[in-house]
Amino acid sequence: MKHMIVAGNWKMHTTAAEAAALAAEVVTLVGKQGGTAPTADVVICPPFTSLDAVVAVTADTSVHVGAQDCHHEHHGAFTGDVSASMIRAVGCSHVIVGHSERRRYHHETDTLIASKVLAALAEGLVPIVCVGETLDEREANITTQVITTQLETILQIVGAERMQQCIVAYEPVWAIGTGRAATAEQAQEVHATIAALLAKAGVHVPILYGGSVTAENAATLFAGADVYGALVGGASLKADAFAAIVAAAGAQMQ
Ligand code: 13P
Repeated sequence: MKHMIVAGNWKMHTTAAEAAALAAEVVTLVGKQGGTAPTADVVICPPFTSLDAVVAVTADTSVHVGAQDCHHEHHGAFTGDVSASMIRAVGCSHVIVGHSERRRYHHETDTLIASKVLAALAEGLVPIVCVGETLDEREANITTQVITTQLETILQIVGAERMQQCIVAYEPVWAIGTGRAATAEQAQEVHATIAALLAKAGVHVPILYGGSVTAENAATLFAGADVYGALVGGASLKADAFAAIVAAAGAQMQ
């Protein structure tokens, strides 16, 4: 049986008040699922300014809270940044690192991402480590090469033992926010590549798919043997759509 995880990346959406209301809806809808059946792990990742409010709403529920990024240093003169220890102290359990929007708009490299993974793990946070190719790279038939370079660089710095504490997310850049999700075959093919690469180092971790996941396509994507859930953007901002994705993940666990 696959243990499934569904994470919602709220990106730069929701004020603290809006986030608390959305989190409350998610708690209600996800809490109603399952009964005695196993349910997927659920993580919601609001903006930094909403973490406190969302942690308060989700306390004593099965819904976990994550941040969307962290700095690689514990503290210091880094204006505008937030450290893993601060994220942990506010009550988070997870943190997304290496999202393609951070790679693109903040020029994050695999080396920097690896140092963020180490900082997160040192604070007891579970890093959700993102990799993925651009459209140009896919069209140039270098997807495997790109993913391999990203993961091997991170793995080399982080080490297999620590990598084992992570979650990996495959997010093809061309599928993010475009409404054009990877097909189940495309997703499974890359997930299998990632699983094989990690297995060579003795690492066996959940690999989530991200990129235009919806309530409609989730079940098809989740059927892939190496697809262990989703990192959801847009659809995670609607509690009912997000809950339907969580239900589709739960169905894989029965
Ligand atoms: P969308 O689901 O909006 O395509 O975003 C995916 C994503 O970037 C999640 O991290």
